[in-house]
Amino acid sequence: MPKTYNIAVIGGDGTGPEVIAEGLKVLNAASGKFGFKLNLTHFDFGGERYLKSGETLPEGAVDELRKFDAMYLGAIGHPDVKPGILEKGILLRLRFELDQYINLRPVKLYPGIDCPLKDKGPEHIDFVVVRENTEGLYAGAGGVLKKGTPDEVAVQESINTRKGVERCIRYAFEYCKKRNKMNKLTLCGKTNVLTFAFDLWERTFYEVAKEYPGIKPDYAHVDAITMWFVKNPEWFDVIVTDNMFGDIITDLGAMIQGGMGIAAGGNINPEGVSMFEPIGGSAPKYKGKNMINPLAAICAGGMMLEHLGEEKAGRSIEEAVMKVTGKHLKSLAAGQMGLTTTEVGDLVAKFVAT
Ligand code: IPM
Ligand code: MN
Repeated sequence: MPKTYNIAVIGGDGTGPEVIAEGLKVLNAASGKFGFKLNLTHFDFGGERYLKSGETLPEGAVDELRKFDAMYLGAIGHPDVKPGILEKGILLRLRFELDQYINLRPVKLYPGIDCPLKDKGPEHIDFVVVRENTEGLYAGAGGVLKKGTPDEVAVQESINTRKGVERCIRYAFEYCKKRNKMNKLTLCGKTNVLTFAFDLWERTFYEVAKEYPGIKPDYAHVDAITMWFVKNPEWFDVIVTDNMFGDIITDLGAMIQGGMGIAAGGNINPEGVSMFEPIGGSAPKYKGKNMINPLAAICAGGMMLEHLGEEKAGRSIEEAVMKVTGKHLKSLAAGQMGLTTTEVGDLVAKFVAT
C-alpha cells in the first residue's frame, strides 16, 4: 500500500488558485515518481466567499483542518475587501488556532536568477529565517481609546511568552543542527531598545545554546541585519526572530533571492498540522492572465513534501525548479518569464517526472 497523505488545499484569492494548480501538477508528478498518494480536499475560503456570505472561516472549519496531514495555501487578500479582514480572519486565524508557531522561510538564490545585489551569486545567498508565528505584535493585544477624537490613544503591545519564545528558539537550534551547513544561529532582535521583550529572547537564546555546543550562537540587531542582508548575506545560516521582525526581514530576503515569485514558506506546528504557502500576495492584477510565476507555490509544495517525510521527492522538486531557473526562465517577474504560468508548471513537472 502506498503511503497516502490527506492535504487540505486552499487556493484563496487572486492568483492563488492558479499558482496552486501548478503546484498540484508538480506534486502529482512527484507522487507518481516517488510512490506516495495525495488525497486532496479543496476549500473555498477567501475574499469571494466572504463577499457572498460575510464569512471568513465557517464554523467548524479549523477543527476540520486539524485532521489533515498538511495544508497547501495559495494567497489571501482581495481588492474589494477592507485590508485586515481576510488576513486576520483567515490567514492569521489559521496560524494561531492551529498553533503553527514557526514560520519557516528559506532565502536561497537559485542559479540563473538575477540578484539585485552586486557581485553576489548562489554561493552567497542560502540561509533560512525561523520566524515566531503566533505572538509578538501579531497577538492583537492593545486597544484604542477616544477613537476619532483629537485625544485618540492607540496601544498595540508585543506579547512574548517564555514558552512561545523558547519553543521557537529550540526549533531553530534543532533546524540549524539538522541543516548542518555553517552551524551558526543568529538571533535577530533589538536588545538595545526593546529591553523587556528581547531581554527574554536573548536570555532564552543563550540558555538553550548551552545544549547545542556544536552551534555557534550569534546576535544581530534587526536594523543591522537589513544592512548585512544587502552587504554580506553569506554571513547567515539560520536566523531566529520574532513575528514582526521576521515578517519584515523575509520580504527583504525574498528580494535578494530574486523576488516574490520564488519565495516560499511553511507555517509549522511540529506537533500538529502545518500550512505551506508562497509568501507573496494574491497579485489581483495578474489574476486569470496566465502570467504569474508559480515557482514560489511549487517550492512551497516541495517544502510540504519534505515536512511530510518525503525528503527525496521534496528535493527533486527543488532540483527541477533549479533547472527551470537555470535554463528556461528569462525573469522571475510576472509576465516577463518568457513562459506562461502553466508552461512553467508543465516544465517543472516534467523534470520531476523524468
Ligand atoms: C506574510 C504576510 C502576512 C503577515 C499578512 C498577509 C498578514 O505579510 O505572510 O508575511 O504579515 O504575516
Ligand atoms: Mn509578510
